Amino acid sequence: MLNFRSGWKKLSDRFILIPEIILTKNLPGISSGDRKISVKNKIPILLILILVLTIPLFAEDPGPDRHYLHHIISENGYNKPIREKMALEYIGIFGLKSGESIGDVGCATGDFCWYFLDKVGKSGKVYGIDKNEVSINYLKKRVDKKKVDNLIPVVSKEIGFPLPDKTLDAVLLSEVHMLGQKDKLHQIDIEKPFLKEIYRVMKPGGRFLVVDGAFVNPLSTPVNYGDIVIKLCRQAGFKAVTKEVRRCRNCESAYLLFVREK
Ligand SMILES: C[S@@+](CC[C@H](N)C(=O)[O-])C[C@H]1O[C@@H](n2cnc3c(N)ncnc32)[C@H](O)[C@@H]1O
Repeated sequence: MLNFRSGWKKLSDRFILIPEIILTKNLPGISSGDRKISVKNKIPILLILILVLTIPLFAEDPGPDRHYLHHIISENGYNKPIREKMALEYIGIFGLKSGESIGDVGCATGDFCWYFLDKVGKSGKVYGIDKNEVSINYLKKRVDKKKVDNLIPVVSKEIGFPLPDKTLDAVLLSEVHMLGQKDKLHQIDIEKPFLKEIYRVMKPGGRFLVVDGAFVNPLSTPVNYGDIVIKLCRQAGFKAVTKEVRRCRNCESAYLLFVREK
């Protein structure tokens, strides 16, 4: 019959031995016999490591977007303080006010949307927009659970939001990497119609914030990515509020702010 007490003792002795053996392993004067014990006792460490490293694989299907997993993690608290600071920084840059409507384009599972919702209040609206249905379904579930009716999850096309003209006071485009990257990342000339579509759904005077790590760590070409984005946005009818790229205070990224001309 399995003796639980002695089994547990053996197991706990082994775990207690581990730090000792690690500490003494490389010290002079340790006999080869002791080293044999140390190899044997590394097995539980390895097993624990394998277990810990594979937990995320079983947590939830990451879906087609690798950032999906990142968002699940942040929502569960690991990354939350940073995401919160980022959202509050964007709210400050926008000068977002109670009662306004904001769209988070490429919102993934919608981390930032909840902070925007707090800011715009009951009289405002937040549209969490993403072409990835898996991410938006995840956001939908949370919205239903919390019973809020002014955070609206929207599945978009690659280019095309199912929203009427002049709906939004503010639009965030954070780390979507759509603009000026056609040579390396997307291979198709989509940025102009994409920006036109953003322009269409924005109210005159609306603010458009582009946050992109590629402003400071170019992903594709050695050309200045900030300059490309400014040029493209101007062509689409936006006026640059920030004349050059600014570093974010709370993350490794950087941003440009535009306004939709009247
Ligand atoms: C890197 S994640 C960024 C998520 C979030 N905005 C952030 O800053 O953490 C990029 C997201 O943009 C979405 N996306 C990419 N192209 C898009 C498009 N044309 N329209 C809407 N969403 C898009 C992807 O599905 C993905 O969820």
